[in-house]
Amino acid sequence: MLELIYYKNHIKREVDMCGIVGYVGEKSALDILLEGLTNLEYRGYDSAGIAVNVDGKVELYKAEGKLQNLKDLTSEQREHIIRSKIGIGHIRWATHGAPTTINAHPHSCNCGRVAVVHNGIIENYKELRAKLEKEGCVFRSQTDTETVAHLVAKKYAETKDLTEAVRLATMEIEGAYALAVIHQDVKNTIVATRRNAPLLVGIGEGEFYIASDVPAIIQYTKTAMYLDDNQIVTLTPKTMKLIDINNNELPQKIETLPWEPVALSKMGYKHFMLKEIHEQPDVVRNVLGGKLRTIDENIILNEVTLNKDSLKHLGRIQIVACGTSLHAAMVGKYIIEELCGIAVDVEPSSEYIYRTTVGDEKTLVIGVSQSGETADTITAVRQAKARGSHILIITNRPDSTMAREAGSLVPVNAGIEVSVAATKSYMAQVISFYLLAIYIAEIKQSASKDELQKIKRELILLPQKLEKVLSHKEDVQSCARKFSNSKDFIFIARGINFPTALEGALKLKEISYINATGYTAGELKHGPIAMLDESMPVLAILMKGKVYDKILSNAEEARARNARMIALTNSEDSKLNELFESIIRIPDVDETLSPVLAIVPLQLLAYYIAEFLGKDVDQPRNLAKSVTVE
Ligand code: M6R
Repeated sequence: MLELIYYKNHIKREVDMCGIVGYVGEKSALDILLEGLTNLEYRGYDSAGIAVNVDGKVELYKAEGKLQNLKDLTSEQREHIIRSKIGIGHIRWATHGAPTTINAHPHSCNCGRVAVVHNGIIENYKELRAKLEKEGCVFRSQTDTETVAHLVAKKYAETKDLTEAVRLATMEIEGAYALAVIHQDVKNTIVATRRNAPLLVGIGEGEFYIASDVPAIIQYTKTAMYLDDNQIVTLTPKTMKLIDINNNELPQKIETLPWEPVALSKMGYKHFMLKEIHEQPDVVRNVLGGKLRTIDENIILNEVTLNKDSLKHLGRIQIVACGTSLHAAMVGKYIIEELCGIAVDVEPSSEYIYRTTVGDEKTLVIGVSQSGETADTITAVRQAKARGSHILIITNRPDSTMAREAGSLVPVNAGIEVSVAATKSYMAQVISFYLLAIYIAEIKQSASKDELQKIKRELILLPQKLEKVLSHKEDVQSCARKFSNSKDFIFIARGINFPTALEGALKLKEISYINATGYTAGELKHGPIAMLDESMPVLAILMKGKVYDKILSNAEEARARNARMIALTNSEDSKLNELFESIIRIPDVDETLSPVLAIVPLQLLAYYIAEFLGKDVDQPRNLAKSVTVE
């Protein structure tokens, strides 16, 4: 049988994570699929593809690289493709080997009648493939996903029922998946299912959408149903049927999505990252809203369900997170230890899950994640939960997989973050940690009233101070211009701003591809100082407080090795002019709260350097917004 595949490029390769979309209804599917994929492009941009049904035939269109390549490909045959009122689509972030067109989704079977898109990893795909090949299936790609297409085709041949075919197929596959399937013989029908990968159904009038995430559908509908693991949904323009893996029909939990389409617009900014950086004063207002009323009142954190007695007697806290969320967690450690006197360990989730970690009912485990879908962190909190620890999740996505694992769920309310480089979600996470630390300290009475009131007063002032930082960007811009050709960058800090140094370096690496490293300033002389010469910029985060003089000495040591010195400071000290080639000043702020202000110029520095270098700011190479594979 003929399979119609339109390839832009050829070669081969393996499995992926990514985003999926689907539409069935009365409208043309093409633009809805492409628009949906555009709004999921933050999940990956190695290749993209769609499957449609034109005049009774399933057709696949796939292109390597950015989504634009698929848009160009489909525009060549637009008049033809727009006749389809059903379709599924996929945007890919490759996890093994080179991303190419032949491995782009959708995938099909021998007869070309089935099309499958998949987010996740089929762990037993090698065994399944070997078995299917013996039975005559001819594989074209190296992906795990193609096994699902062959398997569904085989089950359909046996049952003549697409839902049943998908159900039987999922009983044989192991691993994580969100799947959407169409079949040429089953008109106007999408069957979708999930296990350990996100998937939701958008409900319109005489139409349904499916997507890995809200941004793909929010402009069409706010009415939706999230699928749970092992549920299978069958959609036609007018019907939706939900079953479990044992074929029992299930009630449908329909909800209204708490998002606005405007969140997906750049609002006049050149990039989402710049827009999101500028949203931070409002993000802080949102996070504080209703929780911190006045400095005299206790913090209200109804989201923490662990009872006060257990909080008082916590033995320790473990925080697990990745990337930027890990840096927010490190700030959290400083504040919690300082205010609550509880020992806090912070660990990358990917390390936590592969060693013997010790924890029990007296251990509070906090998972921090913008997306709530980061596979390593999900695994870490599941392990901790199995050991009896209370799980508190700090996430920007209360609708995420991680949120569903939570004993206590602290949503950070930063709004949808589109840029791959996290900025406003970091801000929201850090502020949430201040609130959590004060909340616990007030219950434990582990810090003085004066101290807590001082921090609360500063917290209330932060949005205005952030606005000030954002309205004086000239220093940052000129610094970016001066240093944009540097091959390497060093960020130094001490104490509570060490995570700021790490986060500043991560931002620069991610979007400008400059080799940047954050060090505790005291460590510089134990090795890294050997790298310093007149070509090396060293940015010192120099906040007034306990460690100011220490960092200043470390900066002098670096200057003595001819490094090009930059200061990020809230000090007006004129002596700094002699030591530093560039100075970025921020408003005065208490040392404990200084990470909140200090990170913003570093986000901007990374942004402007990437801009000068002409990099793809919102979609840096090799990255994806949610890393849903371990
Ligand atoms: O969604 P999460 O916060 O769990 O994601 C963790 C990291 O993948 C993420 O912070 C990543 O490091 C960002 N690209 C940072 O900008």
